[in-house]
Amino acid sequence: MSKTNKEPKNNPENPVSAKKLLSTIEKISAEAAKQVNSASSPAELEELKNRYLGRKGEIQAVFKFLPDIPLEDRKQLGQELNKLKTGVEMLVNDALKKLNQSARKSAGDKIDITLPGYPVNRAHSHPLSQVSAEITKIFVSLGFQIATGPDIETAYYNFEALNIPEDHPARDLQDTFYIKSQKPGSMLLRTHTSPVQIRVMEKFQPPIRVIVPGRVYRNEAIDATHSAVFHQLEGLAVDENITFADLKATLAAFAKKMFGNESSVRFRPSYFPFTEPSAEMDVRCIFCTGKGCGICKNSGWLETLGCGMVNPKVFDYVKYDKEKYTGFAFGIGLERITMLKFGVDDMRLFYENDLRFLRQF
Ligand code: PHE
Repeated sequence: MSKTNKEPKNNPENPVSAKKLLSTIEKISAEAAKQVNSASSPAELEELKNRYLGRKGEIQAVFKFLPDIPLEDRKQLGQELNKLKTGVEMLVNDALKKLNQSARKSAGDKIDITLPGYPVNRAHSHPLSQVSAEITKIFVSLGFQIATGPDIETAYYNFEALNIPEDHPARDLQDTFYIKSQKPGSMLLRTHTSPVQIRVMEKFQPPIRVIVPGRVYRNEAIDATHSAVFHQLEGLAVDENITFADLKATLAAFAKKMFGNESSVRFRPSYFPFTEPSAEMDVRCIFCTGKGCGICKNSGWLETLGCGMVNPKVFDYVKYDKEKYTGFAFGIGLERITMLKFGVDDMRLFYENDLRFLRQF
């Protein structure tokens, strides 16, 4: 005769009755409750858990008799057994929680309040943001206001209104990230903050004194001193009777505040289409004080910014009276100044967000 699932597995000669199993369940339930409630340590509870709920535990053992029970009672008994199991589980977990709570409470009485606390890691701003804020503060103290403009520009603001003609090398595809648009070559990522000069002059009449901190983009190969995304701080002053002497005095005052009272500056002739005359300002090398070192390439001077008197052709674009007004403008490369200030020799470190680097500032 072959065996089927319905056949009794345990003691075929002496089958268990539903009644007997039910009283076993009640007995286990009462016994378990009594023991769990009188347990006085987590270890003891762990033992009880094993004894009742383990794979070879008492409750599991009762489950083995289920197949012997006549079908009509089996369902109800199975439910009773499951109730027992979850009941004991809950009892043990509750008891464990209570034990842990009272353990923590009595430990609380013994907390050593003279122990030092955990150190709190305070966040701070990025070195580029710090230097930007420092430069901004200096120019605000000199009477400048802060202006901003969009990163996505038109060729008109970035080039044309700044007197950069169509065939100028700065418009080269190699330098400018153009944006695909209906009119090819008309939308781009600004290559400098100078377009904001135009936007400010279109909107406001002189007197104007603004600085423009911002992100700029150029299609450059990335290395220790070049990045495709970097930061500039533009300056513009327009009024009656502004002269090159004002430009020199303002930027020399900036250098003294930025690099120390003993620092000195020099201006070299340069060229920008939107300023005339144009110049570059150098600061006496802050590392060797002019004696010559690796950082200033033995010249004793550090290049810090481009500047000049606003080209009257630019005033034509914004419909300013070029007979009445003059102005000066400048553009500072933020990365370069920050590298000099903190002695950082690789620009890429600013963008990698390595906390070991950033925490040093
Ligand atoms: N826009 C110039 C650059 O990106 C810098 C500059 C600004 C020069 C203003 C003169 C006046 O190099």
